Amino acid sequence: MPKLLQTISELREWRSAQKSRVVLVPTMGALHEGHLELMREARRIAGSDGCVAVSIFVNPLQFGPQEDFARYPRDLESDAGKCQSVGVDVIFAPSAEEMYPADRSIIVLETRLSKILCGASRPGHFDGVCTVVLKLFNLINPHDAVFGKKDYQQLAIIKRMVRDLNVPVKIIGCETVRESDGLAMSSRNRYLNDEERRQAPAIRQALLKAREHWMSGGRNAEVLQKIFTNHLNQFAPLHRLDYIACVDRATLEPLNEKCEAGLMATAVYFGSTRLIDNLEL
Ligand code: PAF
Repeated sequence: MPKLLQTISELREWRSAQKSRVVLVPTMGALHEGHLELMREARRIAGSDGCVAVSIFVNPLQFGPQEDFARYPRDLESDAGKCQSVGVDVIFAPSAEEMYPADRSIIVLETRLSKILCGASRPGHFDGVCTVVLKLFNLINPHDAVFGKKDYQQLAIIKRMVRDLNVPVKIIGCETVRESDGLAMSSRNRYLNDEERRQAPAIRQALLKAREHWMSGGRNAEVLQKIFTNHLNQFAPLHRLDYIACVDRATLEPLNEKCEAGLMATAVYFGSTRLIDNLEL
C-alpha cells in the first residue's frame, strides 16, 4: 500500500527525506479510471527512482453553498487500493482542520480566467482551487504536477497561477479518459439516473459533430455552437445547457469569426448534475 500521511508534520518529515523527483497528482478522491491515468502518467514522469504523490482532499473552499460538498463521495480505503494498483508511493489525505486554520485570512484570487465559462456560474470556485493547489505545492514541493484536460479551465488557471506567482512546478495536462460510449469520466456521473446516463454521451457526440464542420473548413464560432446545441436538443432532451463556447486554449478569450486552433468547452446539466466536457479544435 502507498504510505498514508494525514498531517502536515508527517508530510514535511517525509518530504525532507526525498532526494529524487517528486510528481504530484492532486485529487479530491472518489478515484476513477481518469484519475488512475493521471497517476500512470505521473509514474512515467517520476521514473523508477522518483516518487508519485497523490493528494486526496475534498476542498471545502471550492464548493459553493448550493453545491455537493456534503454528498461528495469519500472512501479513503478504496481510493488507497486504486492508488496502489498504479504504483503510487505516497498519499496525503489531510482533514479540513489540518489544511485550514480556523482564523485563516488569506486566499489566492484569480481575476480574469475564472470569470467566464464554469467560473461564471461558480463564483469563487477557482479561487478555492488555486488556494488549495498552491498550498499543496508549498507543502509537497513537487517537481511536476499532473492535471486532467477534462477540467480545461482549471488547467489553464493553474498554468496561469504558476506563471504569475513564479511557482517552480511544471504543470502537465493529460487527455480525458472516457467511458466506452464517449462520456467523459467524472465522479459526478454516478448522480445521473438511467435515462440521464443514456442521454449524457450526446455531449461528446455534439462536440464531435461541431468538429466535423470545423475539419471541413468551418471557422465561425456561432455556427459551431449552433451545430452543438442542435445535436444536444435532438438527442438529449433532458439536458439544460449552461454554456457552449469556442475559446482560446490559453487565455480562454472567446473566438468569434475565426475559430482557429481553439477549444470548444461546455457545461450541461442533467437534473442537478452538472457535467463538463471540451474538445481541442
Ligand atoms: O480537479 C480536482 O479534483 C480539484 O479541483 C483539485 C485540483 C484536486 C483541487 O481541489
